[in-house]
Amino acid sequence: MAQSLKGRSFLTLGDFTAGDIRLLLTTANEYKRMKYAGTPHRIHEGKNIALLFEKTSTRTRCAFTVAANDLGIAPEYLGKDDIQLGKKETVEDTAKVLGRMFDGIEFRGFAHKTVEDLAKHAGVPVWNGLTDKFHPTQILADFMTIEEHLGRLHGVKLVFVGDGRNNMANSLLLGSAIMGLDFRILAPRELFPEEGLVHHAHELAHQNHGRITITDNFEEALRGADVIYTDVWVSMGEEDKFAERINQLRHFQVNRDMLNLTGNPEVKFMHCLPAFHDALTTTGQHIRDDFGLESMEVTDGVFRSPNSIVFDQAENRMHTIKAVIALTL
Ligand code: CP
Ligand code: NVA
Repeated sequence: MAQSLKGRSFLTLGDFTAGDIRLLLTTANEYKRMKYAGTPHRIHEGKNIALLFEKTSTRTRCAFTVAANDLGIAPEYLGKDDIQLGKKETVEDTAKVLGRMFDGIEFRGFAHKTVEDLAKHAGVPVWNGLTDKFHPTQILADFMTIEEHLGRLHGVKLVFVGDGRNNMANSLLLGSAIMGLDFRILAPRELFPEEGLVHHAHELAHQNHGRITITDNFEEALRGADVIYTDVWVSMGEEDKFAERINQLRHFQVNRDMLNLTGNPEVKFMHCLPAFHDALTTTGQHIRDDFGLESMEVTDGVFRSPNSIVFDQAENRMHTIKAVIALTL
């Protein structure tokens, strides 16, 4: 059963029940239809929200901005050098000040504790736009996209390949356990998620008739997969780890051979983006020059193939974030 989400913060998927997440997905679908039909939905006219970014962003920043404008809300972007947060003023004091002026606060940054402290002291809803530990709004977009393509979520065989202990793996793990997916992480053992989180996910999956598998066995993870999901091998804030991660994950690249291992020619490919699928970016060029790789976590062929639904995912960031803002304000 979903309850009203008014006044609630969204720091991890664990803040919501399966019913709440279903309500958010249904609402996102309604907003997508309204957007396509050109039906105005300025239900929060006159409100203001703050968008705090310690790390860079394309999708999350734009999704919050467009969603806010569509709902009649004024968004204010505050980058890492724009405010005193953490440098001249504590998170607690900043939260209290922003909470007096804004109706809601989005935060993207490093320590997960920062977003927790903001939520504790702001007195208005706080939304996690990514921390080192979790990226929950991304998972709503991913689930919406999976349902659009497969027509269901429960029981879907979703495999996350790569850095199995990063914010995306952690969030997919929690979200899948709550929504009852057959979720698998395929990673080298040294990149398995924290035991405490895995234990919690097993309990949730049990309650929700889902399944969780953490493995370094390709056959076990990939057999019969409906979706293969990957993410960058080096997350924001870990830029000194390229050599180590390439060494650990070289054999975990999503390529045509990996897709074939699923035995499912229709298997979908997903990625939260940005993706290193070619050497056309400055970082991509460095990787090619230093490590001899044309691509990292996914080949250009798979990224551009009909199996790939990555740009549907990116668009759905906006519709799902709109649902989060609309229901929690
Ligand atoms: N997927 C995602 O969060 O993208 P950005 O880093 O561009 O916001
Ligand atoms: N794991 C990635 C996700 C980017 C959306 C990072 O934190 O950089």
